[in-house]
Amino acid sequence: MKGNLIISNVRIVTPVGREALKGAAMSDLLTISDGCIIITEGIISYAGSMEDRPMTRPDEHYDEIDAKGCVALPGFVDSHTHLVFGGFRPDEFGWRLQGDSYMSIMERGGGIQSTVNATRVESMETLKQKAQWFIDRMSEMGVTTVEAKSGYGLDTATEIKMLDVIGELASEPEQRLNVVATFLGAHAVPREYAGRTEEYVDLMVREMLPAAKGKARFCDVFCERNVFEIGESRRLLKAASDMGFLLKLHADEIVSLGGAELSAELGAVSADHLLHVSEKGIKDMADAGVVATLLPLTAFALKEEYAPARRFIDSGVAVALATDLNPGSCFSGSIPLTIALACLYMGMTVEETITALTLNGAAAVGMADRIGSLEAGKQGDVVLLGSDNYNVLPYYVGMNCVKATIHNGVVVSVNP
Ligand code: NIG
Ligand code: FE
Repeated sequence: MKGNLIISNVRIVTPVGREALKGAAMSDLLTISDGCIIITEGIISYAGSMEDRPMTRPDEHYDEIDAKGCVALPGFVDSHTHLVFGGFRPDEFGWRLQGDSYMSIMERGGGIQSTVNATRVESMETLKQKAQWFIDRMSEMGVTTVEAKSGYGLDTATEIKMLDVIGELASEPEQRLNVVATFLGAHAVPREYAGRTEEYVDLMVREMLPAAKGKARFCDVFCERNVFEIGESRRLLKAASDMGFLLKLHADEIVSLGGAELSAELGAVSADHLLHVSEKGIKDMADAGVVATLLPLTAFALKEEYAPARRFIDSGVAVALATDLNPGSCFSGSIPLTIALACLYMGMTVEETITALTLNGAAAVGMADRIGSLEAGKQGDVVLLGSDNYNVLPYYVGMNCVKATIHNGVVVSVNP
């Protein structure tokens, strides 16, 4: 679906550029009060003032939206999700309310392994329908690109089944957003390999990565104490990088293990979570230009301290925000709550959250040259807010202030 669309009389608010904005530059938003966006065959052909707008060719049809009273932002990029999975885990949530910890549930074979059991027996069609439900909700909240991970198979067949589901979602002709696939075979050590982590890494290197090649853009790892330690993570990620995968890490989420430092050493595109990042980890990520993808909904749902967003930004790191939607640690894909938590509890400004969810999210999925800002040449992905004041983003705590979502120049979601 690629449309021709003119959005007129709109307040354009956007970061600018084709790479992540680091540190203080995250606050640099271009604002055009009386703006116009023209999208031609799905690509932005003009984003500027109403006054200077070019005439479109009279023989070409354009849909028109008078967006007076609205802010236009670039479509949001949710750069870290686990949106394909079998089953649900409400009981686990109940156990955590009674004091159980996320890792102790995982260590007794629950947690990720219980979703693995459910995903292995689920059909592709059911997995796809379920994921599409989340995609539809995300689109209503302004998301126009989502990253989706495998990681609930932990055997070659099911990991590939998950990547095929993600691939089918991505190529659905009427799909409402871009879908980017990540291979996360290293999400947990499967039951069959308990106590034999190195052998499971061998299996991933020998069998899973070659099978995932061409189906996933990224390789990710849950780099954590008693899951994949630093050495095991390094071995897997190096092999993946040699095969042409871009790299991501679940880093320093539960304990300070050195995942941030490893992300810098390996030139990863992003390191994610980072609740327990060390000062050296922050500095290494700044020096290496690794995007810090922070996931406030997970910290909220696990009742953990939030990631040190201010320290990252003030050290010159590019910060992205994402939801981490998954059936366990964070069963929420709420963009509005992500923004509110980032502003209220992580010290981020509204401007920084906008950059974090647009251009920096785009960089975190390796697509900053194509999406993430409202500029000629980029994909026609736009969020219209139901207000001309973008402070509504955190002000509507957990409520949706998005009026319409536009993907490739086509209106894909409208909220009353
Ligand atoms: O990003 N920490 C590891 N992975 C996910 C949780 C997955 C799950 O609990 O199912 C996360 O938090
Ligand atoms: Fe995650």
